[in-house]
Amino acid sequence: MATIFRDWTEGHSKGWGVEPLKISHNLHEHPLFSKEGLGELIQSYPIEHYSLIRTSSVGETKKVWRRGEVGDLTGHEVIEKIAAGGLWLQLRELKSVDRRYDDLLQEIYAEARERVPGFDSFGHEMGILISSPHAKAHYHADLPGQALWQIAGSKRVYLYPAEEPYLPQPELEKIALTGLEVGLRYEPEFDRQALVFDLKPGEMLTWELNAPHRVENHGELSISMTTEHWTDEIRRSQMLTVANGILRQHFGIVPKRRALHGPAFWAKASLQAGWRRSPWFKRERRKMLPVDFRLGRGANNPIVDIPAYVVR
Ligand SMILES: [Fe+2]
Repeated sequence: MATIFRDWTEGHSKGWGVEPLKISHNLHEHPLFSKEGLGELIQSYPIEHYSLIRTSSVGETKKVWRRGEVGDLTGHEVIEKIAAGGLWLQLRELKSVDRRYDDLLQEIYAEARERVPGFDSFGHEMGILISSPHAKAHYHADLPGQALWQIAGSKRVYLYPAEEPYLPQPELEKIALTGLEVGLRYEPEFDRQALVFDLKPGEMLTWELNAPHRVENHGELSISMTTEHWTDEIRRSQMLTVANGILRQHFGIVPKRRALHGPAFWAKASLQAGWRRSPWFKRERRKMLPVDFRLGRGANNPIVDIPAYVVR
């Protein structure tokens, strides 16, 4: 078997999806993640599937958060601009944009399935994040199963327990209802319970469902890849969270039960299915940030203002 994971152990099979695991892989040597491969991908990436975000760089006190387009720069030039600071580029839904990445994604999960007894996943997604030195991802929790694969540069990942007070249930419900990662409160004292991992090229990290985390790049350009998946158990947990959120927010009921099976589960499953068809659901989905700059070749200011427009 050609393997993507390296040095797999019995402990990895047991801990997969249940506890934080750092595992070696070889995707940083894969042609699809080489500078040439990524450069080619960036150049032709459709704007509705990427977010290029200008943020405050280190030492910049003014808060900046703008969305832009890569313009006519080559993929290699885009990566160079990001390396210079204050930018990140997220390529989303790779599997629908480029078939070769979808094939690789299927390969990854086929291998995981072979290695982890009973791990039957679906709804796979792959994304790439290219981010500036010292860039940060704020404290948040994700809904599907997650893995973070480091390709180039290094970053520090802080992982927190998926329980009170790190992850209050009403906050998780809000994320599930709106798709927005809002309202997850971070306290510096949480760090006493954090597990801290430094991720280097050729290392990947997985963690238990919904575990809050935040990420800090070290002082170099970082290229990482994320994979997402669902399992039957994750889908049930998600349906329950949405249903509990509806009960709490719209009916003032404090939900207690977390049963993933039986009549209580199915009552909640139908409640959240109705919600998904209702007009409230669409209204609460993410509002897109308008695009108002493109990348330019200028050395001192790579940001060129353009008339703002909303993608789709
Ligand atoms: Fe995340």
